[in-house]
Amino acid sequence: MSVLVQPLPEVNPLQDQLRFDRRVPPCAIVIFGASGDLSKRKLLPSLYRLFYERRISQNFGVIGNSRTPMSDDQFRDRMKESVSKFLEDAPFDEAVWDSFAQCLFYVPGDLNSPAAYDAIRKKLDQVEQSHQTAGNVVFYLSTQPSYYAEVVEQLGAHGLQHGNGWRRVIIEKPFGHDLESARKLNEQIHQVLDESAVYRIDHYLGKETVQNILAFRFGNGIFEPLWNRRYIDHVQITAAESIGVEGRGAYYQEAGALRDMIQNHLSQVMATVTMEPPIVFDADNVRDERAKLLRAVRIMNPEEVHKFAVAGQYGPAIVGGQQLPGFRQEPGVDPNSQTDTYAAVTFFIDNWRWAGVPFYIRTGKRMPKRVTDIAIQFHAPPLPLFKQQTKTGLLPPRPNLLILRIQPEEGISLRFLSKSPGSGMRVRPVSMDFNYGSSFGERSPTAYETLLVDAMVGDATLYTRQDMVEASWQIVQPILDLWAHEKFDFPNYPAGSWGPKASDEMLARQGHTWRIP
Ligand code: BG6
Repeated sequence: MSVLVQPLPEVNPLQDQLRFDRRVPPCAIVIFGASGDLSKRKLLPSLYRLFYERRISQNFGVIGNSRTPMSDDQFRDRMKESVSKFLEDAPFDEAVWDSFAQCLFYVPGDLNSPAAYDAIRKKLDQVEQSHQTAGNVVFYLSTQPSYYAEVVEQLGAHGLQHGNGWRRVIIEKPFGHDLESARKLNEQIHQVLDESAVYRIDHYLGKETVQNILAFRFGNGIFEPLWNRRYIDHVQITAAESIGVEGRGAYYQEAGALRDMIQNHLSQVMATVTMEPPIVFDADNVRDERAKLLRAVRIMNPEEVHKFAVAGQYGPAIVGGQQLPGFRQEPGVDPNSQTDTYAAVTFFIDNWRWAGVPFYIRTGKRMPKRVTDIAIQFHAPPLPLFKQQTKTGLLPPRPNLLILRIQPEEGISLRFLSKSPGSGMRVRPVSMDFNYGSSFGERSPTAYETLLVDAMVGDATLYTRQDMVEASWQIVQPILDLWAHEKFDFPNYPAGSWGPKASDEMLARQGHTWRIP
């Protein structure tokens, strides 16, 4: 059978080659949970964008599945609406959409029902013929997490884990609700799938700026010698969001900030900043180093949890003239909820490189602004020869600070001291800045674009492996256990502020203060 997709306009072959040096093989993607938010906001817009830029094969098909009854055409119409709405920094092109839409199919059905998997198999066979997808299939689990084990079991029961081509399964976060459930889920998955076919997604690892941490550290000779306890005093990782829970109250109430951000995204970011250099840059070696690092993070005992972890929950406040509700007033949230919407943790990494260096990690909803960055503070010079002029007088100068900016600004800044103009030796901090936008002048792919392509080409470097996921649950588990029985005096920070006082006190005990990003 012939391919239904309309050919796209010709492009300069050289440009084509430069842009798409990683050719993606033909494949079909089955999205479970296709009418959900992630699919509408991220997956379909990313796939459209990849198709538009010809970064994926034209021999490609998407089969959406969810419970809602819909025809292929109704699914296409719905996805058109979402893609045109959620496409980030990119034009929506009707002609390209028409080609793309011919690759979209829909199979309604309940995830518990064997009939749904029979129907998916039939549709896959059809798409393999019509779009020449070579029997390669990515299954994308974007359903309620409680269905993950069931879907994998059903894939096995229907023999969908094998076929003419390769089969890979992407699993969205959250991967488990705690260490025990994550282990159990891994076991259930491994009854059907080999670890090499499992792609656990953590979209932070796909962000350009997070990937760039590895390029910065291991592609340059000048930083790595300083990257250790001898030169680094402490590290602060901040992921602040100005939004609240945005209609996800019911999910968030069960999760909380520590589970939602620190167990996965931010512990992976910490591992990226602190891991040893891999022997070669490939999936096994990079992930071996990340896993090794996570295993070196000190597991807290209950007294340490009191000292090194702080929970917060936002209360109502007027911000910028607008009345914002507290978390307990959000739809779907228990009015006495004990859920953390802010979490701050001090981790220590017990290895030779990092012994004694505190890693402060904080994240929260309803903070004053959206910002994610990593601030690496170096030791002060051994003898302060110069003083810094401040509003409150002459003080010892502030130490060097390297800031890796993840979002929304993307770049790197190095703060160092410079002599202020004029007579006398007064010094002042100045900053040397690298900015992605102005240096490269082109749009960075979104994390989902990067990760979808990686799964299609079979590169699991930026996906998490069983041992990494279990190790990152292990480091937060004592905190979760203690917090589960704690009676917090919530709310303890007003919406639009930088979190509870207890968090400042946690740093003050170590002689540090949070930076204002
Ligand atoms: C998700 C969390 O994994 O990451 C959300 O569930 C959070 O609560 C989001 O808002 C943050 O991602 P990003 O890419 O916007 O920083």
